[in-house]
Amino acid sequence: MTGRTGETGQIGLYEAMSTLRAVRRLKPDPVDDALIERVLEAASWAPTGGNAQPWRVVVVRDRGKLERLGKLYAAAWERYASGHREMLEGAPAEEVARAERTLDAGNQLARDFGALPALLVFCFDARRMAITDAGLDRVSVVGGASIYTAVQNALLACRAEGLGCVLTTLLCQDEAEVRELLSIPEPWATAAHVPIGWPERGGHGPIRRRPVSRLAFTDEWGQAFGGGAS
Ligand SMILES: Cc1cc2nc3c(=O)[nH]c(=O)nc-3n(C[C@H](O)[C@H](O)[C@H](O)COP(=O)(O)O)c2cc1C
Repeated sequence: MTGRTGETGQIGLYEAMSTLRAVRRLKPDPVDDALIERVLEAASWAPTGGNAQPWRVVVVRDRGKLERLGKLYAAAWERYASGHREMLEGAPAEEVARAERTLDAGNQLARDFGALPALLVFCFDARRMAITDAGLDRVSVVGGASIYTAVQNALLACRAEGLGCVLTTLLCQDEAEVRELLSIPEPWATAAHVPIGWPERGGHGPIRRRPVSRLAFTDEWGQAFGGGAS
């Protein structure tokens, strides 16, 4: 493959984390295999339960497969977006405008999915995972932590390389078709689909997140964290 070779990863970790956005407007321009290999190497550094690394990645480059996946993604996106629009009824104008910008970018990703330079399909094998909450009477999340650490490392590496990327999960609903199309054997299953490409517009940048004061407590739930001993 030919194409640009990235920004050589010269960005501070905190800067990368605080400017890693969901970049959905991606150019079809090629992305070098060498660059994707660096991104995947960063993924391989992630911690996993028992260091089992119970994940694998299929890097999808084939135009026909991407187009087929794009059709599935577009249908799932349309269902998601129409539900989201309904939820926005009556919301403050600023929130609606922000959501509309995101939906527009999502529409573009859904439309251009077949032209992506690369799609990373993260797969997992639950038998190789230490799922410590599997027996609880609630949805189990611990297994995901042995996959999404790797996904996040890949996203951060994309950020460092100047590559646009977004963690998507809508295609997980269509796992049977995805499995068949990519010859993913049982019991491997799908956890995330990460489109990668050069940003069409500004790419990564400022993010909006809740402050730590709303997210963290000291010693007991509800007791504010912060302002204590350093
Ligand atoms: C578990 C998970 C699933 C997601 N699934 C999708 C998806 O299917 N499609 C999509 O466009 N974005 C998806 N996203 C991206 C989020 O919408 C995005 O990270 C969030 O809105 C914050 O956007 P920002 O980083 O640009 O601020 C997903 C993110 C996560 C963490």
